[in-house]
Amino acid sequence: MAAITIDGKTIHADENLCVLEAALQNGIYIPHLCHHPDLPDLGACRLCVVECAGEAEPVPSCMLQVRDGLQITTKSERVDHLRRLAMELLLAAHPEDCSACPKYGRCELQTLIQYMNVSATRMHTRVKGFAEKEQPLLIHDMNRCILCGRCVRVCDSVRGVQVLQYNKQEMETYIGTLHDRLLKDADCRFCGACAEVCPTGSIRDAVNYTATEKRDALIPCHAACPVHTDVPRY
Ligand code: FES
Repeated sequence: MAAITIDGKTIHADENLCVLEAALQNGIYIPHLCHHPDLPDLGACRLCVVECAGEAEPVPSCMLQVRDGLQITTKSERVDHLRRLAMELLLAAHPEDCSACPKYGRCELQTLIQYMNVSATRMHTRVKGFAEKEQPLLIHDMNRCILCGRCVRVCDSVRGVQVLQYNKQEMETYIGTLHDRLLKDADCRFCGACAEVCPTGSIRDAVNYTATEKRDALIPCHAACPVHTDVPRY
């Protein structure tokens, strides 16, 4: 176990953890989207940036391994600026029709928008224009995808089937299969893990996500999330 200081509080954490997970396990909330406790980290969303004593620039806390003596600051003007910038970049390519999304009320992006109080982006916005793909059992809506890569990582490192990957359509990146085959033709086992870890309404279970269920659904935030205090957590 290593002793690290986060916002002046000393905690003891396993050296195999990243700083983000160590903080969350100790009830200290740091915003995050691409991190998932069961997956290897990627550092894609940049929402979890923190200041680390000795580092000139803020670093993503999910990419920073716990080691003795680390001194972390999770809240500062610089960190707040970078997080808001990262969120605005995400929103620049994300539909604004949250209430029409089947994941409304249990979307992690929506939770973070509320937490960070970022409602609009100063960036040039764009519509990705992907057609929704109805696969057997799963729906892929790549317009709502934030490219956190959780689905690719769970398919690869947890399920070991490597069906999902990053594809390109003109300037846009999206999650698909090799040669853009339908899942049923791409050796998918339909385990549903991709839908389970997707933080938005981008990959969802076609059977369980009906419009009537969406309002009653529970929000899968982390236990340390200060926005939602009365719902089950992962
Ligand atoms: Fe760390 Fe996304 S959670 S970069």
